[in-house]
Amino acid sequence: MNIASVTNMRLKFPGKESLLFSDFSLSIKEGEKVLILGPSGCGKSTLLQVLSGLIPKTVDVPMKADEITVPHSWGYLFQDPDAQFCMPYVDEEIAFVLENLEVPREKMPDCITSYLRQVGLAFENNHTKISTLSGGMKQRLALASVLALEPEVIFLDEPTAMLDPDGTTQVWDTIKQIGDDKTLIIIEHKIDQIVDVVDRIILLGKNGNIIAEGPKQVIFEGYKQKLKEAGIWYPGVWDDYLEENQPDRTIEPVNNQPPAITLSDFSGYRGKKEIVHIDYAEARLGEWITVIGENGAGKSTLLLALMNLVQSAGTYDINGRDHKKVTNFAEEMAFVFQNPEYQFVTNSVYDEVAFTLRLEKREEAEISSRVSDSLHFYQLEEEQDNHPYQLSIGQKRRLSVAASLIKDQPILLLDEPTFGQDAKNTFAILEQLEQVRKRGAAILMVTHDTKVVEHFATRVWQLEDGKLIKNVPASEYPQEPVHA
Ligand SMILES: Nc1ncnc2c1ncn2[C@@H]1O[C@H](COP(=O)(O)OP(=O)(O)OP(=O)(O)O)[C@@H](O)[C@H]1O
Ligand SMILES: [Mg+2]
Repeated sequence: MNIASVTNMRLKFPGKESLLFSDFSLSIKEGEKVLILGPSGCGKSTLLQVLSGLIPKTVDVPMKADEITVPHSWGYLFQDPDAQFCMPYVDEEIAFVLENLEVPREKMPDCITSYLRQVGLAFENNHTKISTLSGGMKQRLALASVLALEPEVIFLDEPTAMLDPDGTTQVWDTIKQIGDDKTLIIIEHKIDQIVDVVDRIILLGKNGNIIAEGPKQVIFEGYKQKLKEAGIWYPGVWDDYLEENQPDRTIEPVNNQPPAITLSDFSGYRGKKEIVHIDYAEARLGEWITVIGENGAGKSTLLLALMNLVQSAGTYDINGRDHKKVTNFAEEMAFVFQNPEYQFVTNSVYDEVAFTLRLEKREEAEISSRVSDSLHFYQLEEEQDNHPYQLSIGQKRRLSVAASLIKDQPILLLDEPTFGQDAKNTFAILEQLEQVRKRGAAILMVTHDTKVVEHFATRVWQLEDGKLIKNVPASEYPQEPVHA
């Protein structure tokens, strides 16, 4: 029995020149575990919203179809952990769902704790503010409220894009445990941990067309070349990449230059609370330092403190100068926020990339040529007149990277610049960063991607509970077990 389906769908976003989907048909049977693969921006998230009925019921997008079937009960897990909560507190968030299902009040506290436990969350007090949770914890909380719905279909739109490796494993393990009797419709770029759950793959092309569909063995074996051409992740993509490209991790010695960043007895705060403390560390020009650590370890706070966006204390020198003497941090360093939307300041993709060049009063001709090059490199040309908020998640991430790297500052502070990307764009971003590093920049990059640590970093900083517990050359960093 079809639990979700659409026949001959046509869909066009207002303001777009062409249809995102034309004559698109797909049906999903009860109990199936389906993975939708496709390059960034091809329409995967939009399709999921159609199959759940969110489009056009809640999200008003012009579309037509001969027939649409949507499931009776479903839960949805989105890419962005911040986008899915109705209540300010953990217990209230799940209670909100339970109330709608008319669960008696006295049963609620136990129910809440049990759903939280299923997703690996345990709080001393469940009345904890959601805003104090890390991205990964939020994502597990969101899954707990989906579970509370006891839905027949769960839609998952890259739910682990922002999670640390442990968090990712926990979420997928949970989904495997609870998913047996449910229909799962999954979008995910990083597929290593989920392929064993999935029994059918739908492969979408750049224009939202179905290139292939079938059992996973058939797709991965029979369509490998297509996956490769489209720049989509498949098992073994890193091996294939490394065969053709060997990232060089040597550092050119820079003579008589002070470190790009020197930290001594340095603390970063959120409000009045000290979140991260570093006894001593340096970042030198030409280094690519990956900052790793569990969700909540203080990685983003460290970067925000270095960019002077949250309060800090202690010694912090930039290129040998006390940071207090630096009047404009943006002159010295580029910054990529964990959440791309926090970064956008204009109303179009083009203007976003041009923004800092215009502040510098560059010639329009130079601006135009640099911006065009950058938009081409990041596959955003077709989006240049659109509002940044109208982009797909992967496109937003690329836009935020493009906009912050356009100025060519010598220090880059990047908070998960590759999350939510297909393979092609991930490698494009990594290769551009590698070029910038080779030109002598210092890169400090938060990432959960152990492959990036293994193949691109020159040094690793590992944070745990706000302390720098490891600061070693990448070659000495123990290789993480690869999740097969
Ligand atoms: N609200 C909107 N208004 C206009 N265009 C939109 C809107 N939302 C999405 N789009 C466009 O529709 C296309 C498909 O977006 P969608 O989010 O479905 O892609 P995706 O395959 O999920 O990409 P990703 O892998 O990056 O998440 C993109 O070109 C995007 O810019
Ligand atoms: Mg998407």
